[in-house]
Amino acid sequence: MPATVIVGAQWGDEGKGKIVDLLAQDSDIVCRYQGGPNAGHTIVVGDETFKIRALPSGIVRGKPCVIGNGCVVDPDVLIGELDEFEQRGRSTAQVYVSGNAHLIMPWHLAIDQASERRLGRLAIGTTRRGIGPCYADKAMRLGIRVQDVLDPKILRQKIEVALAEKNLWLQRVYETEPFDLETVAAQYEGYAQRLRPYVTDTSLYVYNALRDGKFVLFEGAQATLLDLDHGTYPFVTSSNPVASAAATGVGIGAGRIDRVIGVAKAYVTRVGEGPFPSEIEGPAQDTMRELGHEYGTVTGRSRRCGWLDLVALRYAVRVNGIDQLALTKLDVLSHFAEVPVCVRYTLRGGEETRDFPAHQSDFHAAKPVLETLAGWSETLDDCTSVDDLPEAARRYVEFVERELDVEVTLIGTGAERTNVLTRA
Ligand code: IMP
Repeated sequence: MPATVIVGAQWGDEGKGKIVDLLAQDSDIVCRYQGGPNAGHTIVVGDETFKIRALPSGIVRGKPCVIGNGCVVDPDVLIGELDEFEQRGRSTAQVYVSGNAHLIMPWHLAIDQASERRLGRLAIGTTRRGIGPCYADKAMRLGIRVQDVLDPKILRQKIEVALAEKNLWLQRVYETEPFDLETVAAQYEGYAQRLRPYVTDTSLYVYNALRDGKFVLFEGAQATLLDLDHGTYPFVTSSNPVASAAATGVGIGAGRIDRVIGVAKAYVTRVGEGPFPSEIEGPAQDTMRELGHEYGTVTGRSRRCGWLDLVALRYAVRVNGIDQLALTKLDVLSHFAEVPVCVRYTLRGGEETRDFPAHQSDFHAAKPVLETLAGWSETLDDCTSVDDLPEAARRYVEFVERELDVEVTLIGTGAERTNVLTRA
C-alpha cells in the first residue's frame, strides 16, 4: 500500500517503533507527522539498541526520513541524534525536516516545568519537554519555525519578540529566571548552521514520492487516547496523533492515505495522570510492569499497567479508521494463568456500554466489565509463525478480532525485531 499510517491505539508506548521498523523494510520513506521529543522509541537490532526521540524510526533501516510540519523540533535533541547516528556509521544525508515545523525554545521547557509545578495535584504529568507550550505558541502565532534558522536576522528578531513576552511570564507568573537574548540567540544561531542542510519542503517531497508510486510510511507518535481532540482531555498531549492528522502534519491530501494500521499492546499501559478503567489492582500490576519493562523511554517513569481494554480499542478503531491491528508484547501475558480482558464499561447509572463514553465524567466513573480468558503459561520465544502459538494465545488474538471486527495482522512475541509474527 503506497501510503500507510501507523498509529498508537492506546495511551502510547505500544511498541510502534518496532512495527515501523519492520514495515520500513518495504517502504521508501518514513515520516513523522506530529509530536516532538516527548516520544521515545527503543529499537533493538542484534546487540545494538537505538533510542530515538526526534527522528523517525526508519532511520535505523537507512530509509529517507521526514520530520513533517506538524512536528515540534527541539534542535538540541535532533542534532544530538543526528550526531549519534553519524558516529555509529549511519548516514543522515536523507533526513528532511519541514521548514514549517516549530522549534522548541528554552522557554517552552521552562514553562512546561513551571506550569506542572504550579498545577501540583492537578498536574497533567507531561514529559516536561516543552511540547504543550510550543504548540500553544504555534496557535498563538508567536512560534519560531525551523525555516527561521535559514536567516540569522529573522531568527534573532523573532527570539527578541518572543522573549519580550515570555520573560514577563517567567518572572511574574511563574516566579522563575528570565532568559538572556544574547545567550539564546547565540545558541540557536549555532544550531542553525547544523540544521540548515536538512530543511526541506517536505510536503512537496512526499507528494512527489507518492505521485511516483513510492511507498510512504507515516509514523504516529504518542497515541489515540493522548490526542488533543479525541483523547482523554486534559490528560493528553498537545498535538493530533490520530491517523487523519498524517495528512495535515505532512501536507498531503486526506484521500492519499491508503491504509491505517493500529498498534496496541496485548494489555494496556499509561504514563502520567488521568482515568484508566482497566488499571490492574494489586501486585499483578507490579508483576506486569517488571515483565514488560514498563518504564518510560524518555522520562524513566513507571508506567501504570492494565488489562486489555476493548472499549477503548474499539474507539481507536473508529476515530482512526483502523484497517488492521498489530498486537504487541503478547509474550508478557505468558506469565499469567488467566488473562482478564475489559469488554464493556459499567457507567454511573449501572448501565453497560461497549462504546467509549463521550462525556468525561462518564469515563472517569467507568468500571471495567472483565471477561477472563485462559492463559497459556508457555514462552513464545520459539514461535516462528502464528501456527506455533499455544492454542490459548491464538484464542486470545481471535477474541480481540471478533470483538473489534478488525484483523490482527502482526503479533509481537518478544523484544527482538525478529519477534513479530505476520498473518496474511
Ligand atoms: P506532553 O506530550 O509532554 O505534553 O505530555 C502530555 C501527556 O502525554 C502526559 O500524560 C504524557 O505522559 C503523555 N505522553 C507524551 N508522550 C508520550 C509517549 O510517547 N508515550 C506515552 N505517553 C506520552
